[in-house]
Amino acid sequence: MNNLKDKNILLCVTGSIAAYKACDLLRVLRKEGANVQVAMTQSALQFVGETSFSALSNYDVITQIFPSKEGETGLEHVNLAIELDAVIVAPATANILGKAANGVADDTVSTLLSICEQPTIFAPAMNFRMWQNKSTIDAVDALRKHGKIVINPEEGQLASLHEGEGRFPNTHTIINSLREVFDQHLPLKNKNILITAGPTREHIDPVRFISNRSSGKMGYSLAVQAKYLGANVTLISGPVHIDPVPDVNMINVESTLDMQRELNIYINREHNIDYIFMVAAVADYIIPNPQENKIKRKDSTLNIKFSKAPDLIQELSSKTDAKLIGFALETEDGEKNAKEKMSNKNLDYIVLNYANEPNAGFETNTNRVIIFSKKGSKKEFKLDRKDRIAAKLLDFIINNK
Ligand code: CTP
Repeated sequence: MNNLKDKNILLCVTGSIAAYKACDLLRVLRKEGANVQVAMTQSALQFVGETSFSALSNYDVITQIFPSKEGETGLEHVNLAIELDAVIVAPATANILGKAANGVADDTVSTLLSICEQPTIFAPAMNFRMWQNKSTIDAVDALRKHGKIVINPEEGQLASLHEGEGRFPNTHTIINSLREVFDQHLPLKNKNILITAGPTREHIDPVRFISNRSSGKMGYSLAVQAKYLGANVTLISGPVHIDPVPDVNMINVESTLDMQRELNIYINREHNIDYIFMVAAVADYIIPNPQENKIKRKDSTLNIKFSKAPDLIQELSSKTDAKLIGFALETEDGEKNAKEKMSNKNLDYIVLNYANEPNAGFETNTNRVIIFSKKGSKKEFKLDRKDRIAAKLLDFIINNK
């Protein structure tokens, strides 16, 4: 999904401690194919140097209305402004909200905002008291009345270490808001998605465990793609070597019983989960009584007692109305086994992949899958990168095939 490709964006950075987060926003916009020119206020320059933004955007940064030296970028260089598709003010301080709401044009960014008629998104970041200040509230109301988009800041710990509403909105929220400007339909907007990924670990003693080769890549790819489609994503992950997915509610677990506990929390809390993707390679057998102390190498054989693990996805089917998607990893009789699992576990979909195919299944960056639905449809997605497979699977499921 690339509706930001070749869009011309003006990114206005104003003076908040969150100014550094605009670098990440710029990076993602560029990755999505947008051309971005950055303008910064003098106070933004106190927080982040213009070099970072010019390097990331590949354009000179606009910092002054009247450049003192020839060749410096000033408003006469804002030829972009004429062809601009959208403006993002991120982070937006209380100051710039107030100025933009009242038509004040006394510095680079406020002047630009006063001349740009393109769709404009403000992503505020400030102290919670400033956000609740009557003047800020009035400014936000006025901007919204004028058709501008003002994203609500997030709640959480602020730079001042106070808790409250005022945190810079996350990158995906800003990007999704921009996509909406370009009329991109976000089919998973307001949908809650729960994904499990990676292996589980069953402890034998304090230093040893039994696990499997799942890398977590398929589940993490689904989390990223679902986020792109506007979903609220919770990812319950076993131990993997992948960076956490930004803007996703990440929950790290180790054992099957940990995963069961977290799943139950999410089902019981009535999070109104719409889809559950059970991608994790959950243990089939767990060790009910791990040794408290390290097992010493003294006996010639070692017996470990396993007991059958609870079938987590099967347990969920009676507890939730969410669509349940299982992942079957097979080595033989794939279609037959996968369909049996779909029916025994009461699933809406099952995604079959093979552990014994080159470049597919565990640990690889690619996969070949076949998805079956309870309704009887079947679709194969040929060998491709896991992120693309994830996007195709979501498309199939969202469209209720
Ligand atoms: N699953 C689960 N709980 C388990 C084992 C598996 O929720 N204890 C889920 C997996 O996350 C997956 C689906 O069931 O979505 C199918 O997993 P798979 O390992 O292929 O099936 P099993 O039921 O474990 O059958 P087998 O290992 O015998 O093939």
